[in-house]
Amino acid sequence: MFIDFSGLLSSQREVAMISEMIHTASLVHDDVIDQSEFRRGKPSVNVIWNHQKVTMAGDFILAVASMMIARLRNNDVTSVLSQVVTDLVQGEFMQLGSKETENERFAHYLTKTYRKTASLFANSLKAVGLLIGADEGIIDISYQYGRNLGLGFQLVDDLLDFVSSAEAMGKPTAADLKLGLATAPVLFACEKVE
Ligand code: FPP
Ligand code: MG
Repeated sequence: MFIDFSGLLSSQREVAMISEMIHTASLVHDDVIDQSEFRRGKPSVNVIWNHQKVTMAGDFILAVASMMIARLRNNDVTSVLSQVVTDLVQGEFMQLGSKETENERFAHYLTKTYRKTASLFANSLKAVGLLIGADEGIIDISYQYGRNLGLGFQLVDDLLDFVSSAEAMGKPTAADLKLGLATAPVLFACEKVE
């Protein structure tokens, strides 16, 4: 067991790297899907390369992250981090659809938001707890903390899409409505109109 100067296990540091790589791979693919032109204040990769290359670049980052997961040799961590990838894809599928009633639409939005965003936060924290052999209670609190942080992050991101600027965000704003996506601000506005 190797603990570095920050008190982290090297395997826990690896989880941080793996999470960041899964996140990056998903954003590379997301910018293709959303046909976005900017990310973090710079032209996104789909502006620089063609769609074939960009899709494979995202796949490659994910493939290397998968090798890094395998090298941790921890079945529970493998399962938890694989769940993140499954959730990301299912979240994106859910984003393509909607529901009939107001209640169903909000529940759909929150489940989609958990899968698309919060699962990565929640399960990365869970993985880090599993690696230190933390007890079930601590692992669950870590998971819940990540879940709430992730849901909060995406709610704020969805609001900023309406009220912030591309300069401040480093990515296009007012994008969700153009893509036909009804996020929390639209769902709340519909509640007021109905
Ligand atoms: C950004 O959302 C997108 C995500 C958080 C997830 C995207 C997931 C996929 C494309 C599934 C494929 C996953 C892998 C691992 C290859 P957004 O468009 O609301 O945010 P943005 O404004 O930052 O683009
Ligand atoms: Mg996007």
